[in-house]
Amino acid sequence: MNFNRRQILQTAAAVSLLTFPARASVPLLEARVSKQLVAPQGFPETTVWSYGGSIPGTELRVKQGERVQRRLLNELPQPTSIHWHGIRIDNVMDGVPGLTQDAVEAGQTFDYDFVVPDAGTYWYHAHNRSMEQVARGLYGPLIVEEAAAPDVDQDLVLMLDDWRLDPETAQITDDFDNGHDLSHAGRLGNIVTVNGVFDPVFSVRRNERLRLRLINSSNARIYDLDLDGLSGWIVALDGMPLENPLELSGTLPLAPAQRADLLVDVTGEKGTASLVSVERDGAFGLVRFEIGGTAANTSRVDAVALPSNPLPEIGKYQSVPLHRMVLQGGAMRWLESAKLGGAELTGRELAQLGRFWALNGYAERPSDPFLDAEKGSLHRIEFVNESAFPHAMHLHGHHFRLILSDGSLGPWRDTVLVERGETRQIALVADNPGDWLLHCHMLGHAAAGMMSWFRVS
Ligand code: C2O
Ligand code: CU
Repeated sequence: MNFNRRQILQTAAAVSLLTFPARASVPLLEARVSKQLVAPQGFPETTVWSYGGSIPGTELRVKQGERVQRRLLNELPQPTSIHWHGIRIDNVMDGVPGLTQDAVEAGQTFDYDFVVPDAGTYWYHAHNRSMEQVARGLYGPLIVEEAAAPDVDQDLVLMLDDWRLDPETAQITDDFDNGHDLSHAGRLGNIVTVNGVFDPVFSVRRNERLRLRLINSSNARIYDLDLDGLSGWIVALDGMPLENPLELSGTLPLAPAQRADLLVDVTGEKGTASLVSVERDGAFGLVRFEIGGTAANTSRVDAVALPSNPLPEIGKYQSVPLHRMVLQGGAMRWLESAKLGGAELTGRELAQLGRFWALNGYAERPSDPFLDAEKGSLHRIEFVNESAFPHAMHLHGHHFRLILSDGSLGPWRDTVLVERGETRQIALVADNPGDWLLHCHMLGHAAAGMMSWFRVS
């Protein structure tokens, strides 16, 4: 018998496997210091912290129901951990130091290993000193593909972030604990990037259909997004499909940590289409889509809904227990007092300790859970925003449905924007056992007091 080279190599590989039963190799995800051009062309590169050496970090893309395995290797000068935002995950894999794991010390590793139950657009980010670590770049996309994905010409992940850079050196301003930011809207940057690039350009053709997966990885910035030369539908929010795609009209608000999946057609004639951020003093282009040529007119009809995810049934929610969470403090509505470390401190004492916010009178994650739920039970939570700033309230391990002002159920979300002075209700099936954080995703607000938790047992 004649062996060809390929067979010999295979045999050699088989032998070495038999002789050295290697430990299962888990792909590494290194958190490390790296450099990237974040500022416009002509500026120096910025020293960032990243997963795998790039901003955004390594894109993880799996099929619904598959397993994600990554060994976090911490090469940063600080302890860290990874939270898999929006994944209805096994509690021990949730990545919250002090609640579900210990922070991973510099030089150490932690093996993350979990199954993704839902298709959609998710992301991962650091969850230790998040207000600093996420601001330095520790985030990446986690895309879970539907078994039957919609037919599109391009599937583009667009991660929005704003950076606060020194205008001379283009280095990150390291004033993360700045009391003014903490007590106001949070850390807002002076430059906005998409996928770590200022003013990125994509090539498209007229009539192409695009799936845009928008992810807001900013510390505190709320975007009001608009499209020019593109039109279509919102098909998912925070990863979860809408029952009926919503035609895009007006601006689309995207709070920190929120995602939106859009299906859009390139309708512009020629030149450029764009994704635009609408701000008080004008509209700013975030992404340019250069239209080169025309795609075969596929005469696609309206967007069809994405296949649904295995979410729990929300039954008679109108009469279930209502748990109120009051969002307190911040500039202009300064805390009079709140609990910290078992004592009631005055607003002034709290401010000296960098605490400006409270949830139900606690300026820290309390020792008792906000909600102790029996597995599978249905609850309503009411967020009452008594402060003068908006907050993006996020629950770990679960998605919930908004209860709209007419009492009907709105979309599934994992992060809800509660505007100043506003009250918003959600319906939650507490079906994922464990201890879960509930906090504001304006990361400075969370660090300055807006942190709570709930238990499902
Ligand atoms: Cu995306 Cu506790 O966070
Ligand atoms: Cu907040």
